[in-house]
Amino acid sequence: MALTGPHHWIFGYGSLIYKVDFPYLESQPASISGWVRRFWQGSHDHRGLPEAPGRVVTLVPEVDAVCHGMAYRVEDSVLAHLDFREKNGYQRVLAPLQFTDGRQLEGIVYIATEHNEAYLGDAPLSEIAAHIQRSAGPSGTNQEYLLHLAESLRQLAVYDEHVFELEALLLRETNQEAS
Ligand code: SIN
Repeated sequence: MALTGPHHWIFGYGSLIYKVDFPYLESQPASISGWVRRFWQGSHDHRGLPEAPGRVVTLVPEVDAVCHGMAYRVEDSVLAHLDFREKNGYQRVLAPLQFTDGRQLEGIVYIATEHNEAYLGDAPLSEIAAHIQRSAGPSGTNQEYLLHLAESLRQLAVYDEHVFELEALLLRETNQEAS
């Protein structure tokens, strides 16, 4: 496996797929094995507030699972920006990234484990959807985070049952309120 040098591959599986507020040298769809995407992390600083955290995604270990997202090759200096952006419980983890062209390279993934203070963990999907519907923070509404993520996964032709079920529950609730 090739190691990263002055440039690093970053793997994004949440907002890093659709909100690319950093320069990059190249990007490619990629996946990592042994992890699933879950709306189990609390957000105090982006999609919620300290007294009313929103729910955003993290990766949770699961044998035989594959999580698809987007990889970016970035300069070293971008890491400081990403460390700040992901400071609410996420830590850098090095993991093998699988690219669609067959390459496998080591990359950096921001993962929020159950040991961080903002971690919320599992809940019934209907509760997670309701939580997302009522939350908002400095980066915008929590709904927007979920809807953008679902849309960007569709654009990548990625099926993610957890994300798409939450999107369906949220849209059903929003449509009921509107009618
Ligand atoms: C990521 O996108 O890879 C990390 C989680 C997030 O910022 O939504």
